[in-house]
Amino acid sequence: MNILLMGLPGAGKGTQSELITNDYHVVHISTGDIFRQAISDKTPLGLEAKKYTDAGNLVPDEITNGLVRERLGHEDVLENGFMLDGYPRTIEQAQALDSNLDKLNSKLDYVFYIDVDPDTLKDRLSGRFMCSECGATYHKLYNPPKVEGVCDACGSHDFYQREDDKPEKVGHRIQLQMDSIRPILEHYDSLGLLHRINGEQSIENVYRDVRNVIGE
Ligand code: AP5
Ligand code: MG
Ligand code: ZN
Repeated sequence: MNILLMGLPGAGKGTQSELITNDYHVVHISTGDIFRQAISDKTPLGLEAKKYTDAGNLVPDEITNGLVRERLGHEDVLENGFMLDGYPRTIEQAQALDSNLDKLNSKLDYVFYIDVDPDTLKDRLSGRFMCSECGATYHKLYNPPKVEGVCDACGSHDFYQREDDKPEKVGHRIQLQMDSIRPILEHYDSLGLLHRINGEQSIENVYRDVRNVIGE
């Protein structure tokens, strides 16, 4: 099974990814996570990507497309299927993905768009924090760890906030992506693949709606 999970910054892509991969065992590929890992490892990819991600801009398509093309050819993905989180984000990326999947004799099964109002997004990003050990995502009000200061998933006590979640970057990220996401949604809608999910619900209810589409 191959899934795309789309949504504006803070819509809940990462949060829903954790739930979906628990139940369905598809390989989670988040381009944002790949860039953040490369930045923290100070690889050539990371040094280049940092120029864009820190400012909340999109990394150029040549870089992002090459990276995803390479990842989609790995054995784990070919065997288990994938869930792409945060890719494609431009219509050129969507076209590159279509053509790469053709070459791999593969196809998309579901495209989800988690629909959330921009005002809600700002609120979610400002309260978000992440586990430094395992990357699990939390929110100080909406999704705190069960025991304060301890990661539910791995027990770590170490958390961080993302550089691009600073208030002055958030508005720019949301506006930029609102403009680039529209033609992609039209593209997948015309192919009959798009499922719009109401993201203004609890995390559990958003996931329930996703599950209702995928089935058992
Ligand atoms: P990326 O990491 O993908 O960031 P993003 O799109 O801005 O999305 P986020 O990760 O911020 O939000 P999310 O939807 O995952 O929300 P989350 O589940 O965490 O990309 C980062 C950067 O990398 C980009 O800006 C760009 O520079 C670059 N990049 C990445 N992909 C690229 C591409 N394809 N092309 C070019 N450049 C690319 O949830 C947010 C918060 O809300 C959390 O605190 C969570 O606990 C809470 N929450 C979630 N769901 C709910 C709910 N239903 N109710 C209440 N709270 C909720
Ligand atoms: Mg994310
Ligand atoms: Zn953890």
